[in-house]
Amino acid sequence: MRSFSLFLCMGVLVVAAELPSIGQVGNASSQAKIPPIPGGALGESIRLGRDLVEKTTTHPLSKPYSGNALNCTSCHLKNGTDLQAATFIGVASAYPAWSPRERRVITLEDRILNCFMRSCNGKRPPLGSEVSVSILTYITWLSSGQPIRMNPDRPLGPNPLPQVSLAGFKPDQNKGSQLYSERCASCHGRNGLGRRMNPPLWGERSYNDGAGLAEVQKLASWLKPSMPPEETDLTDDEALNIAAFINSHDRPKFRLKDHLPEKSELGEYNSLIDK
Ligand code: HEC
Ligand code: HEC
Repeated sequence: MRSFSLFLCMGVLVVAAELPSIGQVGNASSQAKIPPIPGGALGESIRLGRDLVEKTTTHPLSKPYSGNALNCTSCHLKNGTDLQAATFIGVASAYPAWSPRERRVITLEDRILNCFMRSCNGKRPPLGSEVSVSILTYITWLSSGQPIRMNPDRPLGPNPLPQVSLAGFKPDQNKGSQLYSERCASCHGRNGLGRRMNPPLWGERSYNDGAGLAEVQKLASWLKPSMPPEETDLTDDEALNIAAFINSHDRPKFRLKDHLPEKSELGEYNSLIDK
């Protein structure tokens, strides 16, 4: 027993050392335990998947499918290993899952590919393509050892973002704007278009209006454990007001047909929303 936990612990150290140093946020306590990467081609696929999650906009394999300035890790902090912020830990254990949005039971691969169309405002990579399978492999690896509990209600894993309550909330964009200037603008720019390593929050290079974060409640719920980095102390009302302010700005419109590839490159689009 003792040697087992030591082994796990070593695995964490090894992986922590391999994590990217740029744009890391969160704190040590929200860092999850991750098993060692296996050898051979499977390990290579996991590493490739992690690279794609980190460098979605620039990696030659994912770049053709990316449509804005966001990498998966811009929202799935620390490549999805931060337990508090839209984590990938355990996620694979929840799929296949029922998706109210697609009105179908979807696989984890579907869920990943749909993020390219919405949060990344890009094109859906083909089912079974290298880009898709590597990200799937990486995320599945992050669920190693977790018991499968398929989700009958929503396509979300066992550690979803706690949702901020909207009960009694009246959005106040003036308060949101004020807070934005004080807490966010230094990194994301007064115009919200991002600066240097800090991604845009609205405008043509941000997530489109079909993304989860385009909903005020979801954005506020993501902000609370995530932003500002190292100072995550927004109250529910502050997070909601900032979210209302951010989402009052223009961003790309989601029209499904602009994001689906040619039928021949699609496999089958596992959804009924275009019917
Ligand atoms: C603009 C922010 C954003 C970007 C960029 C983004 N996502 Fe997401 N994604 C989210 C949010 C928010 C959720 C919902 C998390 C929650 O409610 O717990 C989510 C959910 C998911 C889920 C389901 C998680 C679960 O618990 O079942 C997967 C898988 C996923 N995203 C993969 C990706 C991949 C792969 C990329 C890059 C190609 C990506 N996402 C890009 C914000 C984003
Ligand atoms: C110290 C700089 C810094 C501050 C201050 C900051 N952010 Fe961020 N923000 C980042 C970085 C860096 C990322 C990308 C995360 C990564 O790559 O690890 C990010 C990502 C985001 C994202 C998801 C990606 C996107 O562009 O949509 C949102 C939304 C966001 N920040 C909102 C805010 C809000 C709201 C505040 C103020 C409450 C804030 N941030 C304060 C640096 C900052």
